[in-house]
Order: sequence, then C-alpha cells, then structure tokens
Amino acid sequence: MKTIHDVEPLRAVLQGWHQDQEGIALVPTMGNLHKGHMSLIKLAQEYAERVVVSIFVNPTQFGPGEDFEDYPRTLANDRRRLSRAGVDLVFVPDVVDVYPSGQDESTKVIVPGLSDILCGSDRPGHFAGVTSVVARLFNIVQPEVAVFGQKDYQQLTILRRMADDLFMPVKIIAGQTYREPSGLAMSSRNQYLTDAEREAAPGLYRALCDCRERLLAGELDYAKLEEAGLDELRSLGFRPDYFAIRAARDLAVPPDENANLVVLSAARLGTARLIDNVLVARSG
Ligand code: PAJ
Repeated sequence: MKTIHDVEPLRAVLQGWHQDQEGIALVPTMGNLHKGHMSLIKLAQEYAERVVVSIFVNPTQFGPGEDFEDYPRTLANDRRRLSRAGVDLVFVPDVVDVYPSGQDESTKVIVPGLSDILCGSDRPGHFAGVTSVVARLFNIVQPEVAVFGQKDYQQLTILRRMADDLFMPVKIIAGQTYREPSGLAMSSRNQYLTDAEREAAPGLYRALCDCRERLLAGELDYAKLEEAGLDELRSLGFRPDYFAIRAARDLAVPPDENANLVVLSAARLGTARLIDNVLVARSG
C-alpha cells in the first residue's frame, strides 16, 4: 500500500491507473479508523479495481470550541488496518496542500438550505467545510465512485446534492451504519464517553427505532412523535439538539403519507455529541 502526502506524486500514480482503465473508488475519512470505516472500504472494493482512502482532519468543518485539536490522530494504526484490508493508496495531505490559498481565502463550495438545518443549525459552517473539502478531494483524486456512510445522513444528502448540482462525474454510494452489538453506531467520538455514558449511549438508537416502529404502525402526528423521542432521550440523560422526522430524499418536512422517511437525532451525552438516524420505508 502506498502512502502519499503530496498532490503531484498522487496524480502520477492515479494517471497510471486511469491509463490502465482501472476504476478508482475514493473513501474520504478523518482517520482514527473503526469498523464502520472499514465496512465502507469493503464496499468500495466491490465497485472499483483501485481504492484510495484519504485521511485528513479537515479544519474548516470544525467550529470554534469544537474538537479539532483533540480529534484523535492515529495514522500508524490506520495505515496498518488499511494495508491489511488491501487498500491500494492512502492519501494524507497537509492543510496547505488542500487549501493552497489559506483556509479563509480559498474557494468555498456551499450547498445552501440543506446545510443550514438540523446539524447545520447547531454547527454553523460545518457543512460548508465538508463540501469544500470533499469537492477538493474529488478534484484531486477524480474517482469514478465515492463511498460515504449513511451514519452521517445529512452529510450524505448534502454531498449528493453538491455532486448533482455541479455535474461532478462521480457516483456516490452509501454504506450502511455499522453498529456495536448494543446498537450504538460506531464513531470516533464514542471514545469521549465515560463508562456510565457508554451504558446510556445505545438509548439514542433505541429512541430512533421506537419512533420508526410507531411510524410503521401508521402514526402520523410527527410533532407528537418527535416530542416523544426528545422525552425518551432526556429521560436517559441526553441533552438532545434535535429529534426530527424528515423525507429521506431531501430532508424536507414529509410531503405526504407515502414518502419514505428518515428519523434523525443529535444528542449530547457528557462532552460527546452523538448523531444517528434510521430509515423508514413506507411507499411499498
Ligand atoms: P469521518 O467521520 O472520518 O467518516 C468518514 C466516513 O465514514 C463518512 O462517510 C462517515 O459517514 C462514515 N462512517 C462513520 N461512522 C460510520 C459507521 N458507524 N458506519 C458506517 N460508516 C460510518 O465524515 C467525515 O469523516 C468527514 O466529514 C469527511 C466526509 C471525511 C470530510 O472531511
């Protein structure tokens, strides 16, 4: 497995692959890899001959007071895992290579509207940072396929919109959320949980599943269901940011009784902010 830090040598390797007509799949990450990331890599390998994983803790998607400085950086371990998984290349750029004009002066890519709701209203500027970095990674690597986790459902929806709006020649594939046996979605941020919080944390997924069950049973009073979700989370010691029932397609307030839904929540437990979601398929 090659580890490449600079854009020029990366381009040289990629060009060789393009010439040999080998398809390239990209899996963007911020490192500190866990089984959720690895499941995306496995999926990527089904779609392309060559898999590139990027590891870049992107400063522009962290707000002031968020965990950019403390975000776990575990490159040696990550490289071992990626190499064992048969990844072809890991791209580990520096901030100046990704933002050559400086973080504040560089061109931004923004998906308005979708980036301002749900997590976007609690983390202003976060999704502009995500789209600005992923657009760059797409342009640097020029993959045919890119794989993202359903775990970050709003991120996935925004990135699909970005790729569509900008006619980016990349197919975006979604990988299912990988969970611990307790139901807790794997996340690098789970390590901020204390033992007691770890016990409570699977309650987030349970609350989402409870809501899904009620929706599938035919309940339609979304406001009441959202309130019940918030209550359930509070009773477990969470401080929820939101608990929302939305259209799976575009995160709009559900337009009709047949729309496929997604129930999404973000909730704080101690110093950790956890997010999760479940899909609810209704239109047969
Ligand atoms: P990161 O949090 O490292 O996640 C990288 C990818 O792994 C994302 O597509 C995310 O949705 C996916 N992922 C995380 N936890 C998962 C789980 N439990 N099961 C399946 N997939 C999971 O998301 C980012 O990085 C960044 O915002 C990034 C897209 C790299 C842009 O900087």
